[in-house]
Amino acid sequence: MKEVTSGDVLSLCKRRGYIYPAYEIYGGIAGLYDYGPLGTVLKENIVALWRRIYALQEGFVEIDGDNIGPEAVFKASGHVDSFADLSVTCKACGESYRADHLVQGLHPNPDSLSAAELQRLLRENDVRCPCNGELADVEEFNLMFKTRIGPGGGRIGYLRPETAQSIFVNYPNLYRYCREKLPFGCIQVGRGFRNEISPRQGVIRLREFNMMEAELFVDPEDKTWPRYEGIKGKQVRLVPNVTGEEVETTYGEAVEKGTIGNQTLAYFMWVTFDFLTSVGIDPVRLRFRQHLSTEMAHYAADCWDAEVLLSLGWTEVVGIADRGCWDLSRHMEHSKADLTAFKRYDEPQDVVRDAIRPKFGALGPRFKGAAGDIKKQLEGMDASAVHDGKVTVKVDGQDLELDGEYFEVVQVQEKETGVRVVPHVIEPSHGLDRILYACLEHAYGEKEDGYLTLGLKPLVAPIKVGVFPLMAKDGMEVVAQALDLALREEGIATYYDDSGSIGRRYARMDEAGTPWCVTVDYDTLEQGDVTIRDRDTAEQVRVSADDVVAFVKERLKRKLSP
Ligand code: ATP
Ligand code: GLY
Repeated sequence: MKEVTSGDVLSLCKRRGYIYPAYEIYGGIAGLYDYGPLGTVLKENIVALWRRIYALQEGFVEIDGDNIGPEAVFKASGHVDSFADLSVTCKACGESYRADHLVQGLHPNPDSLSAAELQRLLRENDVRCPCNGELADVEEFNLMFKTRIGPGGGRIGYLRPETAQSIFVNYPNLYRYCREKLPFGCIQVGRGFRNEISPRQGVIRLREFNMMEAELFVDPEDKTWPRYEGIKGKQVRLVPNVTGEEVETTYGEAVEKGTIGNQTLAYFMWVTFDFLTSVGIDPVRLRFRQHLSTEMAHYAADCWDAEVLLSLGWTEVVGIADRGCWDLSRHMEHSKADLTAFKRYDEPQDVVRDAIRPKFGALGPRFKGAAGDIKKQLEGMDASAVHDGKVTVKVDGQDLELDGEYFEVVQVQEKETGVRVVPHVIEPSHGLDRILYACLEHAYGEKEDGYLTLGLKPLVAPIKVGVFPLMAKDGMEVVAQALDLALREEGIATYYDDSGSIGRRYARMDEAGTPWCVTVDYDTLEQGDVTIRDRDTAEQVRVSADDVVAFVKERLKRKLSP
C-alpha cells in the first residue's frame, strides 16, 4: 500500500466535509482552518468521549471560561514575559521561520536550544532561506494575540494561549464548590490562540485551536493516586529525557525507578493512552516523550508529551505536565487572593510557637485611647513580625514602630488542626485538532480497487449507519425510512441514500468513515430482515429490522475503566 501523506488526508477531508481551509474564497490564511459538517461532528464525538472519561470516570468538574483576559492574568501566568518562540526572517524575501524548525536534522532536539545556540548552528551550517536569501539574527517573538478591551484605548487584553488560566483564576470558587478538599480536578474545552510564526502543517499548527485541558489540584506532599494500583502493571512506551532512547516498560516500574515522577502523573499518562486509543489512534504509533529541562515550558517541573507517529513524523498531541505550585503561587502573589487549601491533620497537633505579648502597663499610659487597638494588633502577630527588636503597628492610619518597652516575645503552646498549602497542579493538556487529525490519518486507507476508506472508530464516527433501500420503490423506501427514523430517534446519526448503485453508496460511506450500512431489499418485505454490512471486513449479516437499533447500540457501548 502506498504511504499516506498529509496532503492525501487533507484532500479527502475537504472532499468529504471534514476540514476546510478557512477564508478560502479570499485566498485563505495560514494557521486557520474550519471544520465542515462531518468534521464538526467528529470533533464533538471526540470531546464527548473525553468528557465521559474525565467527568464521569474520574469525577472532574467542568467550567467554560472566557477567551479574552486582562493583562494582569497573563503577566502573573508568565505568558506576557516568557511565551515566545525564536524566529528568524529572510533578508531577501521577508519570510519568517521558527529558528528551531530550520535546524531539524542538525541537532537531536532543536526545541531545547537558546537563541545564541540556534544562531551559531544556523551560521555554522550556512542555513539559508529556501529562496537562498540570507537570514537575519534570531529573535524572540511573543505568541500572544494582544488586543484592547473597551473603547478609547481601553485596557490591554490578550486572547488566551491556553484554557488553563481560566481554571486557575477560578480556584477559590472551585475549591469551595469541591467541598474544600484535595485532590479535585476541573476540565475545560475551549479555544486557545497562538500567533504561531510559520504554521505550515495543516491543523497540526494553528493560530486558533481547540484544547481540552484538565487541571488536577493535589496535595504537594501526596502525589499518590488510589486508582494507580489498577494500571501500574500495564505496558507503556517511554522516551525518558536522560537517555533519549525509547523503552518498553510498565507504569509501575517507571514510577519505582523515578523515571515518571509520581503515581498521579503515571495514572493520567495511562488515562491519556486509554483515551487516545479509544478515539482511534494506533497504539503502535503512540509513545510518551519526556521534555528536556531546557525544553520545558516556564511553568513545568516535569512534562511528558504523548506523541503520535504521523506522516509528518512524531508529533505531540497531548502534554502532561506537573506544573507544581507555579500558577497558584503566581496568581496569589499578583492578585493577593488566597489560593491555598487547608490540609486538616488526622489529629490536632500540639505546636509551640513564638508569640508577641503586649505590655499593657506601658501601652496604656503612652497611647491612652489607642492602646486597646494596638494591643489587639500585637496579639494577632507572631514573632516573625519582629525586626531588629521592633514591630510596626498602625495608629490613625500611620505606621508606628514599637520597641521592646511595649511587648515581649514568649513561647506559647497551641493546638493546630491543620495547615494551609498551595496545591500542586497535574495537567493533561490535549490538542483537539491534532488528535482529530491523527485519528483521520490513522484511519485512512486505500483499498486495492483504489477506493478510499476511513476506518474511524464507531464511537467517534460522525455517521454511524448508512441506510439504503435497494431501490426507492415497491415499499422498500417506506421500510428504510422507518428504520432511519428509529435510529435517529435513539440519537444514532444516519445517512439515508437511495440513489446510485449499492456499490457506489457503500464506497461513499466508506470514505466518510461510516462503520455500518443497512440495506432494505425485497427479502425484507417478505421476511422482515435487512443486511448489515461492516465497513472494515465488508462482511454482511442478515438481522431482523427490529433488531438494528439494538445491534448498533450494543457496539457503541463503552464501559468506564479501569
Ligand atoms: P509545540 O511544541 O508543537 O508547539 P507545545 O509544546 O507548545 O506544542 P503545549 O503548549 O503543550 O504545546 O499545548 C498543549 C497541546 O495543545 C499540545 O499537545 C498540542 O496538541 C496542542 N497545540 C499547541 N499548539 C498548537 C497549535 N499551534 N495548533 C494546534 N494545536 C496546538
Ligand atoms: N496548558 C498547557 C499549555 O498550553 O501548554
